[in-house]
Amino acid sequence: MAGIDYTERIPNNVSLHENRRLQRALEDWQPKFLEWWQDMGPNGYQAKDVYLRTAISVDAQGWAHFGYVRMPEYRWGIFLAEPEQGRQVNFGDHKGQSAWQEVPGEYRGTLRRLIVTQGDTEPASVEQQRHLGRTCPSLYDLRNLFQVNVEEGRHLWAMVYLLDAHFGRDGREESEALLQRRSGDVDKPRILGAFNEKTPDWLSFFMFCFFTDRDGKYQLASLAESGFDPLSQTCRFMLTEEAHHMFVGEAGIMRIVQRACELMREHKTDDLRKHGGIDLRTMQRYLNFHCSVSLDLFGSEISTNAANFYTAGLKGRFEETKKQDDHLLKEATYGVAELDGDRIVMREEPALVSLNERLRDDYVADCARGVARWNEVIRKHGIDFELKLPHRAFHRAIGSFAEARVAPDGRVISQAEWDAKHHEWLPTEEDKAYIQSLMVPVTEPGKFANWIAPPARGINGQPVDFEYVRLA
Ligand SMILES: [Fe+2]
Ligand SMILES: [Fe+2]
Repeated sequence: MAGIDYTERIPNNVSLHENRRLQRALEDWQPKFLEWWQDMGPNGYQAKDVYLRTAISVDAQGWAHFGYVRMPEYRWGIFLAEPEQGRQVNFGDHKGQSAWQEVPGEYRGTLRRLIVTQGDTEPASVEQQRHLGRTCPSLYDLRNLFQVNVEEGRHLWAMVYLLDAHFGRDGREESEALLQRRSGDVDKPRILGAFNEKTPDWLSFFMFCFFTDRDGKYQLASLAESGFDPLSQTCRFMLTEEAHHMFVGEAGIMRIVQRACELMREHKTDDLRKHGGIDLRTMQRYLNFHCSVSLDLFGSEISTNAANFYTAGLKGRFEETKKQDDHLLKEATYGVAELDGDRIVMREEPALVSLNERLRDDYVADCARGVARWNEVIRKHGIDFELKLPHRAFHRAIGSFAEARVAPDGRVISQAEWDAKHHEWLPTEEDKAYIQSLMVPVTEPGKFANWIAPPARGINGQPVDFEYVRLA
């Protein structure tokens, strides 16, 4: 595959100049994207130099170049992972056929919907985060926010490329619509619930990167298994960018935990509000909220759509090709948690309709590994407290638990108990006001807000007190 061509108006490694029709469609979309970025991208920082990484090749080793860039001049483009020679459809009814280079006619509508749903989350998160720059806890964090933002912008480019290259006029209309919906807008909301929630503060931002971007990782990983090869190649490269977003989330929370522990030991109290820290109980409530809204993104536990995507060869399981089974799943079953009166029980369900739940299981296990690393920090400080993932049935709006009231420990409870206790489990207005009161910008190189510890190291070998964003 050709390297990335930066001499073109749209950087790409797909030989865009050989496809005039596509090139024109994308060049027509580019100014509309930039207009959206100016209107809905990071508020107040469009003219600042930011120390950003840009893709220079698509292999897992050194794909990145670091340097100062103004965000509107970021070289957004179209980067696909290397093609796999002789790749096949690896699951479902078409298993063993050559992977499709063109959209199979019978799956056109379904595939378009999958791509649009994924694509919609990318600009949505930029919109959700657009005011955070004004309250950054440090220049280091400000730069990380902007890196995430420009890469979500590039993820939008990745999905628009697929729509424009493979779906004709419908695809071009969808590409425009992706720039017209707005996160949280009553008339034109983003497609998925979690992407219409506010991200009003940095605790929410880090939780969002940890929980909601991780949903992105699992969706992209299962689309990377797709029999539609261009989708697979696109998602494989997006996953390398996604890894950084989850690092930002996990490390951000870890630094807040670290600071909380330091303050607890220094002041011999777990009430940190007098001391300007974020106590662990408040963090637990934010964790409960972001985890539960992200769990909803996987969809209903029992889903014929999920079964159809799989049988059609469009969306696989996480690490599909590493699994040792028939990759058809017609006879297989899978254990699914279900509500049975006032108890939650495990039942064996047909594996095909349980694929959403299976992906959610992979996701929960991954989240648990991150939470264990946070708890390690608490343990090392000799503090007797553990952050916990809430039960998957807690505070759900989608699927079989949506109608139930469930405590974070998995007990099915009455409405009365929920009303009496939910303020212990989810962020309260008081919590939100307190967190908001901490959101005072810190922009001197090497300085950090009092509620978060500095990172162990800087970006790309630079010192922690490097001028990651030039504000002057
Ligand atoms: Fe993304
Ligand atoms: Fe992301």
